[in-house]
Amino acid sequence: MLRKIGVIGGGTMGHGIAGAFALHELSVHLYEPSARQREGILPAIREACELLVEEEVIAASSVPAVLGRIKIFDQLAPAVADREFVVECIPERMELKQALFAELDRLCAATTILATNTSSLSLAPMIAGLSAERRGRTCVTHWYNPPLIMPLVEISAFGNTTPEIYKAVASLHQAIGKRTAKILKDIPGLIANRIQLGVAREVFSLIEQGVADAADIDVALKFGPAFRYATTGQLEVADFGGLDVWLTAGDHLLAEMDASRESSPLVRRKVAEGKLGVKSGEGFYRYDPAAIPALRRAFFQRLLRQLKASRAYS
Ligand SMILES: NC(=O)c1ccc[n+]([C@@H]2O[C@H](COP(=O)([O-])OP(=O)(O)OC[C@H]3O[C@@H](n4cnc5c(N)ncnc54)[C@H](O)[C@@H]3O)[C@@H](O)[C@H]2O)c1
Repeated sequence: MLRKIGVIGGGTMGHGIAGAFALHELSVHLYEPSARQREGILPAIREACELLVEEEVIAASSVPAVLGRIKIFDQLAPAVADREFVVECIPERMELKQALFAELDRLCAATTILATNTSSLSLAPMIAGLSAERRGRTCVTHWYNPPLIMPLVEISAFGNTTPEIYKAVASLHQAIGKRTAKILKDIPGLIANRIQLGVAREVFSLIEQGVADAADIDVALKFGPAFRYATTGQLEVADFGGLDVWLTAGDHLLAEMDASRESSPLVRRKVAEGKLGVKSGEGFYRYDPAAIPALRRAFFQRLLRQLKASRAYS
């Protein structure tokens, strides 16, 4: 199995991905160019580990070893020189990622597997400048936030990735407890983000039409469809309900539902007014600034409890 991991970029995703590999006894080298950002990486991983301890996911005694497996670098070359698998988590800009892959190709061993955590960019242009051999060892591994908790990693099997490389990458992520989804086609957003945005489009439209207030729409989602989705996928739900039932519902309702091809006007208005959600104190709900740290912690706690419960399901 791949055991020497490199992570490029120590922001929101990179520090969590580094933590997730270290939690499962793998050696991690993390390259982060910003000194300010570097200082916050280990404290942030320590804080996440403390929550895992509180929720009895890991033992308190294991935390120093987890942190000890992560070595932080201010230079790229020494960070990646001996790595077997390197995943980049730098900002979502094609030209930055293209330049980084060209450098990684030069600095890494010929056998190193490279990956991008891109959410919305296509893999092919990102690696077009690399040799066919390297393109065959380069893939998308798309994590969900927060990476230490969320089990999903979508992995590309398209492009030049060979079946052996796909298998090695999927096995690595499965070995650290992740649930992998194999993606066969290079489409923006892969699977999970597209499903999420489809739901969000209808939810934003319902509130804009005044069908219900925010709390009632969220109750309908959490205790209706999302309650089932936590344990049963949409295609399983469709089979349980009967495809004839889904066919009739689609014929009756889809023509009535939101089919916009751009973001919700309501969300656009809120953003223009500076109502960005928790980070600005108001979005669809209002947040007392003093209560925000506790709210964030409670959000992570709910995810962790969900993670523990989900271990019973295949
Ligand atoms: N935030 C999410 O919820 C999320 C979820 C899944 C995937 N992604 C994807 O993960 C990637 C990273 O997103 P993020 O939210 O962690 O971004 P971020 O802005 O929080 O972190 C990016 C980090 O990369 C560093 N960086 C900038 N240029 C660099 C370079 N040339 N080399 C090395 N490091 C560099 C920055 O200093 C920063 O610490 C993006 O491609 C994004 O689309 C994000």
